[in-house]
Amino acid sequence: LADGPLAGRRIIVTSGPTHESIDPVRYIANRSSGAQGAALAGALAGLGAEVVFVTGPAQVPPPPGVKVVPVETASEMLRAVQAALPADAAVFAAAVADWRVSNASGQKMKKNAGGLPVLEFAENPDILATISRMASGRPSLVVGFAAETHDVERHATEKLARKGCDWIVANDVSPGTGIMGGAENQVTLITAEGGEAWPRMTKEQTARQLAARIAGALA
Ligand code: C5P
Repeated sequence: LADGPLAGRRIIVTSGPTHESIDPVRYIANRSSGAQGAALAGALAGLGAEVVFVTGPAQVPPPPGVKVVPVETASEMLRAVQAALPADAAVFAAAVADWRVSNASGQKMKKNAGGLPVLEFAENPDILATISRMASGRPSLVVGFAAETHDVERHATEKLARKGCDWIVANDVSPGTGIMGGAENQVTLITAEGGEAWPRMTKEQTARQLAARIAGALA
């Protein structure tokens, strides 16, 4: 049996992008490597948690010691998260596509079919907001991420209220920071008490600090 401060705790982590089909060979996606989510899932497992790792098609492999649930689309990701409940905590690190193609084609769209394709969109479910607002059976700690390019703390604080989650891990993904797809991260942890800017460090170090904070909150 696992030991560590999170032994006996069940934690859901979403990670990676989602892919939304246009046709059987084409899709719309988000620019996410899945590195921070994988590091976090590994760090939580390292503290003894039973981790359900719900991951879209990511560029990095899942960490050892977690239960991997691979998904493609945002709708599948929501269903997988709901199926993994109940949990003590849920951390939503995935870069979920906001929209899916509502007129996706069952067959490959032909280039020479005459004219250009016209895609129509439907809004995807917001997984973080859906779980945060569960009337019963809500995980006691729900953590979201916010990738912003400016006014990071203000936007993240608004997001905390809008989504109804407990914490937001906010980071600045402006071009030039090298954070998107890079090895390092600089996050601000937003809680009901306010914002706390952490120093720039590797995604693994960020993951370990966040896992330790989660362990403290669930203790
Ligand atoms: O609104 P925004 O996409 O910036 O919010 C980011 C946070 O919400 C992340 O934690 C992300 O995983 C989560 N999210 C989600 N489902 C969506 C969109 C975002 O869980 N459809």
